[in-house]
Amino acid sequence: MTRTTVSSRADSGVGTCAETAADAGPESALPFKSSPSPEHEDLADICRRLEDDFAALAGKTVVLTGGAGFLGYYLIRSILHHNAGSSDPAIHLWVCDNFQRGMPGWLTKLEGTPHFQCVDHDVTRPLPADFPPADYILHAASIASPSFYRSHPIETMDANVIGLRRLLDYCRDRADSNPVQGLLFFSTSEIYGDPSPDQIPTPETYRGLVSSTGPRACYDESKRYGETLCVNFHRHHGVPAKIVRPFNNYGPGLKITDRRLIPDFARCVLDGEDIVMFSDGSPTRTFCYIADAVVGYFRVLVRGRAGEAYNIGCDRPEVSVAELARLMVSQAGGLFGYRGEVVHRPSDDPDYLVDNPNRRCPSIEKARSELGFEPEISLEDGLKRSLLWYRNHPTAAVG
Ligand SMILES: NC(=O)c1ccc[n+]([C@@H]2O[C@H](COP(=O)([O-])OP(=O)(O)OC[C@H]3O[C@@H](n4cnc5c(N)ncnc54)[C@H](O)[C@@H]3O)[C@@H](O)[C@H]2O)c1
Repeated sequence: MTRTTVSSRADSGVGTCAETAADAGPESALPFKSSPSPEHEDLADICRRLEDDFAALAGKTVVLTGGAGFLGYYLIRSILHHNAGSSDPAIHLWVCDNFQRGMPGWLTKLEGTPHFQCVDHDVTRPLPADFPPADYILHAASIASPSFYRSHPIETMDANVIGLRRLLDYCRDRADSNPVQGLLFFSTSEIYGDPSPDQIPTPETYRGLVSSTGPRACYDESKRYGETLCVNFHRHHGVPAKIVRPFNNYGPGLKITDRRLIPDFARCVLDGEDIVMFSDGSPTRTFCYIADAVVGYFRVLVRGRAGEAYNIGCDRPEVSVAELARLMVSQAGGLFGYRGEVVHRPSDDPDYLVDNPNRRCPSIEKARSELGFEPEISLEDGLKRSLLWYRNHPTAAVG
């Protein structure tokens, strides 16, 4: 195993200002009317909303797999932001990733940050000898972008099944001595497949309408099996495994090359080109800004019930892909003077729309009532923050 230890400047432990200055560049074809960075505000806001949850993690060791990815960008930096500004004992953070798409620059910049370690480790392999005595584990390692999991289906399944199994075995083996206090498995809204219209908004009790053999099945079905593993390790071994089902997160940290909807649209905007839709624009989604979602994830980890699944996302507004594209145009127009149009063009990928859900909108009543989870950032505001981030961080956004 190649071992890499990274950390960063020990100032705020966050590293956004230098990144902004270093990354802001002339790559975009657009003029730039304003340059506030949304990230400091987001991180401060996350820490405020998670004050009690982070207090529960004080002095504990938290393991995060897949930390070099989109969610890792805010999961890691919100903990480090908390450590830097809190008088509580620090949260010790141990992160691993196999860096299949390279080591992101923002992670390299964290080298030297106290109470933080990041290693090169593939979760499908046995846990490394120096795996820390974990109090909490977040298993986020998986290929998450549909374009990438369709081209790497076996790796996707292995991370969600073998990788998860290794962590659950670790928890089971420590149940009598030094028990892990919470394991959070990142499942997906895609376990619902293409819900029937009477199941919109979709509650956690809906069983799904999923193909086991289609091009998305490697992702959907391995997440479903992962959930079943969690529930049974809880029932039979007392492992406090909890499940989140994220619904379409977006925002800073989501690579512009990730081939997901909002980064694809942002790339068109920053290139000064028309926004291209690969569908007819009719499928509908709700979108959850990353700062809201991260609050939900830590709430489930700390306060969620073991053996249970929680939808984390926004329950409104449910917008069509065409409406989203038009909203991007108007937000980018206000920020950058963007004047593009929305056009439809078929994707080069013949599987792009196969088994693509027509509607995706969660019920979040369970997280709302049990965990006090409430999204706060509007779609308009979130898109604006995302566009600013893409414009300010061209190197962090690629890769
Ligand atoms: N972002 C969303 O909207 C969303 C929606 C539904 C589910 N999820 C789930 O949340 C988790 C994180 O999503 P994300 O958006 O950050 O994904 P991402 O693709 O941006 O990041 C995932 C990370 O996992 C790493 N990884 C993959 N296989 C690995 C392995 N075998 N060993 C070690 N590392 C490995 C990748 O290198 C990557 O850095 C994933 O499990 C994903 O399925 C995310």
